[in-house]
Amino acid sequence: MRSSFRLLLLCGLQLCILVPIEANDFSSFLSANASLAVVVDHEYMTMHGQNIRAHFEKILSDIIRENLKNGGINVRYFSWNSVRLKKVDDNSVMVKSIVHESTTNHITPISLILYKINDSLKGQKKRSALRQALAQFAPPKHELKQQQFLVVSKFHDDIIEIAETLNMFHVGNQWMFFILEKVRRDFDAGTVTINLDEGANVAFALNKTLPDCQDTLNCTISEVSLALVTAISKMTVEEQSIYGEISDEEWESIRYTKQEKQAEILEYMKDYLKANSKCASCARWQIETAITWGKSQENRKFRAAPTRDAKNQNFEFINIGYWSPLLGFVCQELTFPHIDHHFRNITMDVVTVHNPPWQILTKDSHGVILEHKGIVMELLKELSRALNFSYYLHEASNWKDDYSITTSTSSNESDELAGSMTFRIPYRLVEMVQGNQFFMAAVAATVEDPDHKPFNYTLPISVQKYSFITRQPDEVSRIYLFTAPFTTETWACLVGIILLTAPMLYAINRLAPLQEMQIIGLSTVKSCFWYIFGALLQQGGMYLPRADSGRLVVGFWWIVVIVLVTTYCGNLVAFLTFPKFQPGVDYLSQLPRHKEISQYGLRNGTFFERYVQTTTRDDFKHYMARAQIYGNSQEENIEAVKQGHRINIDWRINLQLIVQQHFERDKECRFALGKESFVDEQIAMIVPSHSVPYLHLINSHIDRLFRMGFMERWHQMNLPSADKCTGKSSLRQVTNHKVNMDDMQGCFLVLLLGFMVAFAIGCGEFWYHHLYVHKTSRQPPSSVFTT
Ligand SMILES: *[C@@H]1O[C@H](CO)[C@@H](O)[C@H](O)[C@H]1NC(C)=O
Ligand SMILES: *[C@@H]1O[C@H](CO)[C@@H](O)[C@H](O)[C@H]1NC(C)=O
Ligand SMILES: *[C@@H]1O[C@H](CO)[C@@H](O)[C@H](O)[C@H]1NC(C)=O
Ligand SMILES: *[C@@H]1O[C@H](CO)[C@@H](O)[C@H](O)[C@H]1NC(C)=O
Ligand SMILES: *[C@@H]1O[C@H](CO)[C@@H](O)[C@H](O)[C@H]1NC(C)=O
Ligand SMILES: *[C@@H]1O[C@H](CO)[C@@H](O)[C@H](O)[C@H]1NC(C)=O
Ligand SMILES: *[C@@H]1O[C@H](CO)[C@@H](O)[C@H](O)[C@H]1NC(C)=O
Ligand SMILES: *[C@@H]1O[C@H](CO)[C@@H](O)[C@H](O)[C@H]1NC(C)=O
Repeated sequence: MRSSFRLLLLCGLQLCILVPIEANDFSSFLSANASLAVVVDHEYMTMHGQNIRAHFEKILSDIIRENLKNGGINVRYFSWNSVRLKKVDDNSVMVKSIVHESTTNHITPISLILYKINDSLKGQKKRSALRQALAQFAPPKHELKQQQFLVVSKFHDDIIEIAETLNMFHVGNQWMFFILEKVRRDFDAGTVTINLDEGANVAFALNKTLPDCQDTLNCTISEVSLALVTAISKMTVEEQSIYGEISDEEWESIRYTKQEKQAEILEYMKDYLKANSKCASCARWQIETAITWGKSQENRKFRAAPTRDAKNQNFEFINIGYWSPLLGFVCQELTFPHIDHHFRNITMDVVTVHNPPWQILTKDSHGVILEHKGIVMELLKELSRALNFSYYLHEASNWKDDYSITTSTSSNESDELAGSMTFRIPYRLVEMVQGNQFFMAAVAATVEDPDHKPFNYTLPISVQKYSFITRQPDEVSRIYLFTAPFTTETWACLVGIILLTAPMLYAINRLAPLQEMQIIGLSTVKSCFWYIFGALLQQGGMYLPRADSGRLVVGFWWIVVIVLVTTYCGNLVAFLTFPKFQPGVDYLSQLPRHKEISQYGLRNGTFFERYVQTTTRDDFKHYMARAQIYGNSQEENIEAVKQGHRINIDWRINLQLIVQQHFERDKECRFALGKESFVDEQIAMIVPSHSVPYLHLINSHIDRLFRMGFMERWHQMNLPSADKCTGKSSLRQVTNHKVNMDDMQGCFLVLLLGFMVAFAIGCGEFWYHHLYVHKTSRQPPSSVFTT
C-alpha cells in the first residue's frame, strides 16, 4: 500500500481500485468487472498544462484493449477541484508528520532537528558554518550519546572531517550520507573515511539512477496501467482455474475478502514493476555501509606488515541494497549492522594470565587451554555474549615465571603464597597489549596512574582492601573473675557501708532506752560487724533487734543485701558465659603499644607499598619503614604470627584464606584480622589503545552487570567468604556491663534512708523514755517493776 502511495504521489495521479458497488456480494472477477476510478489532481493538471486526463484515457484504453484477455474492468475518470492529494508542502510539515506518525504507530518518539547550510558559502566560511552547525551535537567529554545523522549534502567530505575533529564518530552515533555528486564515478567510501577511527557507524547512499531513463508522464501512466491490468488478468486466471474444480459452497468459504483482494493486486503490481519498471523507478540509491567493528583485529591476522594504502583498512564497505521510489528500501542487511549485532560474531584475540581467583585456566599437557573460569573470565563470557563476539584466549606467561627467571629457580610448590595479587602485571602481557595484537587483556589489574599507561583500564570490576593478621589475643585470666561484676568504686563503697552499718547498728542497739530492748549479741561493734557481714553473705542473723529502730536498720540492710546479691550473681553468670579477651591490635595505629610484636611483614608486590609513598598516614609510613617484604611462605612466617611475634599485611581476602586453611587443618582459630581495612585497591581489566572506541560500550556493560548483581555473585563464588573463625573472634567485641555506681546508688541511698529513719525513731524512743520513764521513775520504783 505504502509503495503504491508513493508511486502515485510521484506522478500526481491517484488510482483507486474500487471493487464493484455491491461490495459484500462481490464474489470474483469471473462474475463481475473490477472498477477503476482515475482521479486527476486539478492543481497538478493545470501546472503541467497538458490534458493529462485525455492522455490517460487514451493510454489506458489502449492497454486494456491489448492486454486484458481475462475479466473486465470499468474505468471512470474524475477531475474535480475539491480533490486535494496529501502533499508535503515544506520541511516543518514533514517533521511534524514524521513525529506524529512515530507516536501513533508506537515507535519510540524521536526528536528531529533539521539544519540547512547555505550552500553558496565557500572555503573557510563554509567550514565554520558547518562546524557551528555540528558543534551543537558534539558529545560532551566522557559521555556517549546516541544520535543519528542524516546528511544530504555535497560537502560530505568536509562534514566528515569536521565531525571527526569534534569526536562525533563513535560507536553510539549513526551517520547516513546521501552523496549528491554530479559525477558519481569518483566517489569512494574508503577514501573519504580514511581518517576515521574504528567503531564508527557510517553508511553512504549513492545515486545509482540510470541515466537513460525515460522519465515522462506518459511512460509512468502506461507502466502503472499495464501493471494493474496484468495483475487483474493474473488474478482472474487464478480464480478461473480454482473455480472450475470446486463447488459454489466451497468457493464461498475460500474466496478472498475485499481487503485481501486489494492486497493481492498490489502485490502483483509490485512484482511486475520490480521486474519491468523503466520510468520513475529507475531513480535508485545504493546503500553502502561500513563493516568496521573489530576490523583491525581481523586485518592483523591476514597482514603481517602494515601496508601503505589510500584506504582505511579498518573500514570495509559492503553494498547492502538500495532504495527506489517504487519499492522503498530493499536491503539484505541492517543499514547499521553494528548497532544491533555489535561485533557480528567475529572472533577476537584475548590475552590473559593464570591468576586465581580472577583468571583460572585449566590446561592440558600440551598447554592448550581447556577451561577458563574465575571472576574476570565470567565477565568476559558475559561481554562476549552481550557484544556478540567469540574469542580465542592466548596466555601470557605469568609474573611468577618472569620472577623465577631473575631469581634462583627454586620454585617449590609448597613455598607459594596463598591468595593473589593484581598490582604486578606480567611484563610480557604489557608487551603483548602494546603490540595492539589483542582486542583486550582479560586480566585483573590494579588501576594505577591510568593517565600514563600505554593502555586504558575499564571500569573497576572489584575493589580490594588491605588488612593485617595477628595472633588472636588470649582470654583474660579468670583468677579475678569474681571481682569482675562490680567496678572498683562499687567494691569500695560496699566495704564502706559495711564499716558504716556495723557501728550504726551497734549505736542504735546501744541507745535503746530499755535494758531489755538491747540484744546481748549486738552489744559490741565487733559482733555487729560480723552480724552485718554475715547477713551480706546470707548466713542469716541469729538475733533480731527488739527495738523498732534497730529492726529498721536491719530491715533496710536486708534490702541492700538482696539488691547486691542479685546483681552480683546475675553479672557473674554473664562474665562466665562471655569470656573477656586481652586487648588485641584492632587498628594499625595501636601497633606501637604492642611491644611483643617485633616483626612487621608485608607481601611482595602490593599496591600498599606504592600507596605509602604518597600517603600522609604516619602509621603506614612507620610500618613501611620496619616492614620485611616476603615473597614466599617461608618468609611469610605464619608460625611467628601464630606465636604473636609478627604481624603481616596483605589483602583481606588473602588473609581470610590463610585463616580458613589453618582452621581446616588445625580446627582452631588462632588468628585475628584487623578491624580496620585500608587502601582501596581498584581492579580493572585492560584495553589496548586501538580498542578504546569500544571502551565506553564495555564499561556500560560492566555497569549493567554490577547493577544486576552478577558481579557480586561472581565475587561470592570465587573469593573466600567470612569464615567460621570470624564469628568467634567477633565475640571479643561483646563488653559485659559492669555494675557501677550509677546502678547501685539507689541501693545505697535506701540504706542511708534506713539509717536516718532508724536514727529518728531512735531519737523518738529516747525522748519517750526520757519523758515517760523519768516521770514514772519519780513514782515509787515498785510501779516500774509492775509495768
Ligand atoms: C502522451 O500520450 C498521448 C496519447 O498517446 C499523446 O497524444 C501525447 O503526445 C503524449 N505526450 C508526450 C509528452 O509524449
Ligand atoms: C465488463 O467489461 C467488459 C470489457 O472490459 C465489457 O464488455 C462488459 O460490458 C463489462 N460488464 C459490465 C457488467 O460492466
Ligand atoms: C548565503 O550566502 C551568500 C554569500 O555569503 C549570501 O549572499 C546569502 O544571502 C546567503 N543566503 C542565506 C539564505 O543566508
Ligand atoms: C542522480 O543521478 C541522476 C543521473 O545521473 C541525475 O539526473 C540526478 O540529478 C541525480 N540526483 C541527485 C539528487 O543527485
Ligand atoms: C551476532 O552477529 C551475527 C552476524 O551478524 C548475527 O547473525 C546475529 O544475529 C548476532 N547476534 C545477536 C544476538 O545480535
Ligand atoms: C559465532 O561464531 C562461533 C565461532 O565462530 C560459532 O560457533 C557460532 O555458531 C556463531 N554464532 C552465530 C549466532 O553466528
Ligand atoms: C619444597 O620445600 C619443602 C619444605 O621446605 C621440602 O621438604 C621439599 O623437599 C622441597 N621440594 C623441592 C622440589 O624443592
Ligand atoms: C585512554 O588512555 C589515554 C592515556 O592513557 C587517555 O588520554 C585517554 O583519555 C583514555 N581514554 C579513555 C576513553 O579513557
